[in-house]
Amino acid sequence: MGIFEALPWSFYEQDTTRFWVHYGLVLLGLLLAVITFIVQWLSPAPYGKHERTDANWGVMIPQRIGHILSDAVPGVLLFLIVFFVYGDARGYANYVFLLLFQAHYIHRGILHPLVMRYKNPYVALGITLGGFFPNCLYHFVNADFIGSAHYNNNYFFDPRFIIGIVLFIVGYIINKWADWKLRSLRDRKGDDGSTGYYIPYGGLFELVTCPNYFGEFVEWIGWSIATWSAAGFVWTVFAAATFFPRARHNHQWYKEQFEHYPPNRKALIPYIW
Ligand SMILES: NC(=O)c1ccc[n+]([C@@H]2O[C@H](COP(=O)([O-])OP(=O)(O)OC[C@H]3O[C@@H](n4cnc5c(N)ncnc54)[C@H](OP(=O)(O)O)[C@@H]3O)[C@@H](O)[C@H]2O)c1
Repeated sequence: MGIFEALPWSFYEQDTTRFWVHYGLVLLGLLLAVITFIVQWLSPAPYGKHERTDANWGVMIPQRIGHILSDAVPGVLLFLIVFFVYGDARGYANYVFLLLFQAHYIHRGILHPLVMRYKNPYVALGITLGGFFPNCLYHFVNADFIGSAHYNNNYFFDPRFIIGIVLFIVGYIINKWADWKLRSLRDRKGDDGSTGYYIPYGGLFELVTCPNYFGEFVEWIGWSIATWSAAGFVWTVFAAATFFPRARHNHQWYKEQFEHYPPNRKALIPYIW
């Protein structure tokens, strides 16, 4: 298969309006990622460790509902609707991509919020909406792309597909393992073990402060390569625009909170940063 066969512009050649809607939104996504990076680098979004009483992000809603709204509605509901109603390609590769995305978002948007042990059971509506609207944009373009892209029948043997899927699965395992490890830190009952913060040890936590973000970053890099899409690329850039600043703030926070925080641990990328 020629390397250009799966390039984006081939998919909407019959419909220029749709082409420009899609790529207009992709460009908007790129701009939003740049703005997000700058804003979050300067100041972390005020939830979890970085919650601030002076920040006014609107009324408080139950945190579990907030995450379901910001992640499951765009990542599961909107994605499925766009894929099945708006999309028109029905090759095996399209379904593999659908399955992978759903595997991530059914966990992140439904299971994760239901089982995590949050310090604060409430979150500001503004934080939820700050996740909901960008997610709608990025998940729309990704579902639009994989719902309509025509991958070659031999795409399963394409290095982009193989490398991308391997990265996605490795990142998926790291991300879920790290989040469950964080959850287990609050296993203890009867003292402040139910709401306190502790230093996580073991596995990738020995190398970086935020292996959950690192794992998810690897996942989306794999997604971009496997889907070979501009939509996947801008989503990965946006994810990086939240992971790098937040990992930096988290790393700083741990060093300030814990005198004996392991000094060789990096923030996000093992051995590098
Ligand atoms: N795609 C994206 O753009 C994007 C952006 C952000 C997050 N995410 C994903 O969403 C998931 C959650 O992200 P997050 O920012 O909420 O992660 P986080 O700050 O690491 O927190 C995850 C959970 O672990 C708890 N926790 C964290 N550190 C702890 C510690 N030292 N001791 C005890 N408990 C601790 C948190 O409790 P508290 O809530 O009480 O702090 C929370 O319940 C991750 O999988 C991440 O990759 C994706």
